[in-house]
Amino acid sequence: MMFSAIFRSIFLSLLISILLLNTSPTFSIRTTTNEQNLLPTSSTLNFPKKQAQKLIRQLNLFPEHDININSVNTTPSLTASTIIEKRLKLPVLGDSGATIQDLGHHAGYYLLPHTKAARMFYFFFESRKNKTDPVVIWLTGGPGCGSELALFYENGPFKITNNLSLVWNDFGWDKISNLLYVDQPTGTGFSYSSSKDDIRHDEIGISNDLYDFLQAFFKQHPQYAKNDFYITGESYAGHYIPALASRVHQGNKNKEGILINLKGLAIGNGLTNPEIQYKAYPDYALDNKVISQSDYNSFNQSVANCDQAIKLCGTNGGNSCASALQVCETIFNDIVTIDFGVNYYDIRKECEGELCYDFSNLETFMNQESVRDALGVGNIEFVSCSSAVHEAMITDYMRNLEVGIPALLEDGIKLLVYAGEYDLICNWLGNSRWVEAMKWSGQKNYVAAPSVPFTVDGLEAGLQRKYGPLIFLKVHNAGHLVPMDQPKAALEMLQRWIQSTL
Ligand SMILES: *[C@@H]1O[C@H](CO)[C@@H](O)[C@H](O)[C@H]1NC(C)=O
Ligand SMILES: *[C@@H]1O[C@H](CO)[C@@H](O)[C@H](O)[C@H]1NC(C)=O
Ligand SMILES: *[C@@H]1O[C@H](CO)[C@@H](O)[C@H](O)[C@H]1NC(C)=O
Repeated sequence: MMFSAIFRSIFLSLLISILLLNTSPTFSIRTTTNEQNLLPTSSTLNFPKKQAQKLIRQLNLFPEHDININSVNTTPSLTASTIIEKRLKLPVLGDSGATIQDLGHHAGYYLLPHTKAARMFYFFFESRKNKTDPVVIWLTGGPGCGSELALFYENGPFKITNNLSLVWNDFGWDKISNLLYVDQPTGTGFSYSSSKDDIRHDEIGISNDLYDFLQAFFKQHPQYAKNDFYITGESYAGHYIPALASRVHQGNKNKEGILINLKGLAIGNGLTNPEIQYKAYPDYALDNKVISQSDYNSFNQSVANCDQAIKLCGTNGGNSCASALQVCETIFNDIVTIDFGVNYYDIRKECEGELCYDFSNLETFMNQESVRDALGVGNIEFVSCSSAVHEAMITDYMRNLEVGIPALLEDGIKLLVYAGEYDLICNWLGNSRWVEAMKWSGQKNYVAAPSVPFTVDGLEAGLQRKYGPLIFLKVHNAGHLVPMDQPKAALEMLQRWIQSTL
């Protein structure tokens, strides 16, 4: 319990973009009284990157660089175009509960083939139960935050304690799956390149890199290629996950490489269909008494403007998508200005001082000599969240990633959309609405299906609705970071979902 105030894990990249866009030049002149900027508007803050950096510091993260682009290759033995993997031996306190003898933990680098010089860093934790368990990949959002935030604060095999030791996580997702975490897009975490050309700007580049990585991974670990495969993640991964699932599905159909046994995708508090999700902000805020009815009425015009801007993004793409982001962010910014100090990842909580989160132990831990040696990262810096990677994705943000999902459902690939009920930023209401609005052969039956309790230990831990391969689950007593807030329920959810008993 005492750690909860200190370790509020994250999805800070969304936060960064929301705030940084609000202070971009277009919006530095605002007229109505309740439209104050959240942060002081000095001219130096009118640059998204500066703004993002400031916010990262407010969250008690101090990455030395804003992106991992290195002019020289400082890491030894990374010249081969294959995976270079290292067996991890980190000291962990407590009992792993592993039922298998030779528990394998690995960290590695893979030289991405369709880049100038990008290397993707990853962790691979073999299941504590059985090597035949499914392979699950977790994608952290941002865009621009490394996977370590989830690994050490949400669903990884262990957690960082206050004194920087590791303890086993009783509800780590590696208890029932062979678990992969990647630092991506290039430039985040320990993933790096020597060329700025490798910075990604859209889901095509990102999903191709991830697909190339998975091909190399299964080539390196052929015994796992037969296992079921699931794509999971959170927040901005509501973009990454559908894009990667489509890429894998297409690769399988075209017999591009090793067949990847894709069975499902799970999106936690994600941003997937912005047109529907941005409109849901005022409704969610009113329902949860974050704003009043008269506040609510004042959002009419911004909602209409946002709607129009997103439609334009859908048809024109490019800069119109960056404009749509700016237009639509006013809705969110105005809501958090009305209820100043609310933690928009969990409306039950206030931010303490300037800090909603304190991840400082993560950077301290990752930069220890012993940890760096164990990971085999050479001199590569650890960039917990990259403002430059974030900024590079500005025209991707308002894209609708729901469009590729029906084809997956029709081919029997399962979709689980889950959301902690107290998250404002990627709230359950907007998520449930896009899921309902999605056109596929099972839509009518899904919409007609009843909401039923999701019970854990005999108690209602959520409400779910399902039809065929599609499940929506609202998780009780959780904010944006479901596996952190409700670790047992989250592990139960994963287990039943992969066993098709959810
Ligand atoms: C792992 O699972 C396989 C297939 O379900 C089973 O045959 C095997 O006995 C299991 N191994 C262990 C150690 O439980
Ligand atoms: C660090 O904390 C853990 C758990 O909080 C405890 O078990 C361990 O003994 C501590 N280690 C040191 C060196 O204080
Ligand atoms: C909001 O706009 C809709 C149509 O755009 C209109 O029907 C409704 O009356 C407006 N509500 C308020 C409170 O202005």
